[in-house]
Amino acid sequence: MEVIIQPDAIAAANLTARLIAAELRAKPALTLGLATGRTMESVYGQLVKMHRGENLDFSQCHTFNLDEYVGLAADNPNSYRFYMNRHLFSQVNIESANTHLPNGAANDLETECKKYEWLIVQRGGIGLQLLGIGHDGHIGFNEPLSSWRSRTRVKALSPVTRRENASQFSKPEDVPRRAITMGIGTILDARRCIMLATGADKAEIVAQAIEGPMTAMVSASALQLHPQCVVIVDEASGAKLKRTDFYREIFATEPEWEPYWKSKGGASAETIDELFAGKVGS
Ligand code: F6R
Repeated sequence: MEVIIQPDAIAAANLTARLIAAELRAKPALTLGLATGRTMESVYGQLVKMHRGENLDFSQCHTFNLDEYVGLAADNPNSYRFYMNRHLFSQVNIESANTHLPNGAANDLETECKKYEWLIVQRGGIGLQLLGIGHDGHIGFNEPLSSWRSRTRVKALSPVTRRENASQFSKPEDVPRRAITMGIGTILDARRCIMLATGADKAEIVAQAIEGPMTAMVSASALQLHPQCVVIVDEASGAKLKRTDFYREIFATEPEWEPYWKSKGGASAETIDELFAGKVGS
């Protein structure tokens, strides 16, 4: 696991989008795992900007979202399909047939989950998985005590998650009690993972997931097992991390990260300012 600390939420989202764009440019037929939620809105905004301004091409890309609420059809404004269409799919040149989310309105949810796993395998697995983190440590909707070998299945949402997501629904009781989610095993099979967290309210859970012991009580701590996982945080959500000097030094010195902070590597001066805001090397 590598941790990258960015000055603020915008810089963290921009860097996340730049890493996704770099992977997509290197592998145009990339299978991209996607997440929803407030944190991801600026990532998708940035990808749309890159599509319009820098010809970022989604035409060969396939996507698989982490999760979908049970009982919500695609045209329900609270469904994750609706969210994805709005924030990304309708604004870039992706084939709608290449975009996948579990169908939360399926009659046979068990078959739907198996089919979803099968589709991912058919595509040769997920190349890059984007992740957020919930206040209870969930990734996807893998709530505390989710099995680390779990695959796509129906999960009951925790009270914390239902409260957190209530603002998107007209009444708190309308928040679905269950969701279909990729399992932790499914996520750990992705070749590369990027987890993005922003905001002071995530500082405690971020520290537990990254520096705490691996525990089923914090699903995101399973990412410590992943061979290629990058966690991008802003200063606020990284405020409770202990080894920040080490993380900053790695980002400032490892060649892999050079394009993201040195002008000669291809990032624009504006990007460098955005990414660093004078903090790197300090
Ligand atoms: C949703 C998902 C969730 C969110 C998490 C953070 O597809 O994967 O794990 O990433 O709940 O949500 P926000 O960004 O709204 O705090």
